[in-house]
Amino acid sequence: MLCVNLISAFSLLWVGGWCLDLKFPPGFQFGAATSAYQVEGAWNVSDKGENIWDSMLHSNPSLISDGMNGDVSCDSYHQWRTDVQMAHNLGLHFYRFSVSWSRILPTGFPNRISEDGAKYYNKLIDGLLKKGIEPVVTLYHFDLPQSIQTLGGWTNPLIADWFADYARIVFRLYADRVKTWITINEPLIMCDHIYNLGNVVPMVHEEELGPFLCNKNVLLAHAKAWRIYDEDFKPQYNGKLSIANNPIWLDPASEKDEELTELAREFGAGRYSDPIYSAEGGWPPSIEKIMAEYSKKQGYPYSRLPSFTDEEKKLIQGTYDFYSLNHYTARLVREAHKNETPGPWFVAGSKELNAVLEIDPTWAYTDLSYLAVAPKGIRRQIKWLKDRYNNVSILITENGFATRDPDLYDTGRINFIRDYLKEILLAIKEDGANVIGYTVWSLMDNFEWMFGYSLKFGLYSVDFKDPQRLREPRASAFFYSSVIKHHSLDIPHSSHQYHHLKRKNLIQDKTSATSRIRVNCELMLIYTLSLAYILVKTMH
Ligand SMILES: *[C@@H]1O[C@H](CO)[C@@H](O)[C@H](O)[C@H]1NC(C)=O
Ligand SMILES: *[C@@H]1O[C@H](CO)[C@@H](O)[C@H](O)[C@H]1NC(C)=O
Repeated sequence: MLCVNLISAFSLLWVGGWCLDLKFPPGFQFGAATSAYQVEGAWNVSDKGENIWDSMLHSNPSLISDGMNGDVSCDSYHQWRTDVQMAHNLGLHFYRFSVSWSRILPTGFPNRISEDGAKYYNKLIDGLLKKGIEPVVTLYHFDLPQSIQTLGGWTNPLIADWFADYARIVFRLYADRVKTWITINEPLIMCDHIYNLGNVVPMVHEEELGPFLCNKNVLLAHAKAWRIYDEDFKPQYNGKLSIANNPIWLDPASEKDEELTELAREFGAGRYSDPIYSAEGGWPPSIEKIMAEYSKKQGYPYSRLPSFTDEEKKLIQGTYDFYSLNHYTARLVREAHKNETPGPWFVAGSKELNAVLEIDPTWAYTDLSYLAVAPKGIRRQIKWLKDRYNNVSILITENGFATRDPDLYDTGRINFIRDYLKEILLAIKEDGANVIGYTVWSLMDNFEWMFGYSLKFGLYSVDFKDPQRLREPRASAFFYSSVIKHHSLDIPHSSHQYHHLKRKNLIQDKTSATSRIRVNCELMLIYTLSLAYILVKTMH
């Protein structure tokens, strides 16, 4: 009996991750990411067309807190060699960047391909391959050609074909060397966030139909691009494609909110994933029902969530080779109180679900209050996806930590990456999830959308006042490169490598990354043995 108790106590500890084997599975890959508008600059070189950020921030510079824009940014259009060198110094297996639609197609449409635009990505891709770094290419990362926005952007159903035209051209240019593709980045932001809040370029605020038309059109655009690749490029090049979803992990605020929380997961993650990954295809049935009833109550003769024809359902279903997961934060879900109107989805709640989203007061913050630090959320999110989508293989395509402080000694970021990676290891080793790689957002500080240059996510800092845009590695860059080199979170003497970056008067990082985990493990062992000793004593 005692023996059984002891064994179960030990296995509990093991499951709890205290004594986790910190090695990553063989073949697990590490990368870092950026996106075109956020790093390239060169907004007006040769024949590049204008995207929504170019046009909106030029005509309305006060939109960004520090009055800045991406005209020059990190100047990666000219400094790409340095970027490749940084990726090499980190030991990255892959570098995820995005192609600018209006750089390749100046008009937004396939009537003209920019020779210089095409050349730029050729140089970057070849430069990476020469260093043995795999290019992972996103086709669309928030930078819509202005011409297409003028025609209604993501709410115009024709955008699916316009995106497919663009995708085919990019595949033709680079599919011989690029084997991993992301069609579209974070539709939850593009559709739900942008249309519900209207506070991000293109600043369109329309909560009724906007998010849902966009939702459907994004799925169709992705599906058409996937099928073009599948039919015309995969037989020869054998690459893989996905769409980068960014579900926030949702936990119930209390036991009675469990059912509501699962609905909220289906409203966020499910609405963007079920049509592609589920065995039945189409919208999550629970959400379809809620939206139909809610729309009826509002007087609409149809659901605000547009239906799929059978043909559309079949077009979208199964258009994946892996699940691309961007993940940053978590929320608690509770039912709205009487007379409480939930704020906009997905930052505050959902009127349709009568649900409110909250941050657990015990969670730590980054310098962006929205991004509460909740590492356990990534493990639960991975398990939810695994269970719902038949053990789909998952590539984490973004995860990262924001600061306003440009300091190179960024222990907060190190702790964040280590804690999230530990939960990913648990998802792999304890939950049997098929996670194939991890990506830090971001390789370097860059133009963080509406926050301009005030918010920093970089493993490398960038001096935006320097004409050369000098890049310097932060402590987190040394930490991450060591994790990659050892293929493990168990890395020797991590803090010594970046001691020189420490400024005076900074709070010291008391223990190195892994010694902390080791200490936990040892303490728990001592605790268990003492418990066993007491048990034996009392039994006698
Ligand atoms: C490009 O934009 C910059 C401002 O960012 C401006 O100084 C420059 O003259 C423009 N170049 C051309 C060719 O229009
Ligand atoms: C999921 O897939 C991975 C990799 O193929 C495999 O190792 C794991 O056992 C699978 N898990 C389950 C629960 O099927």
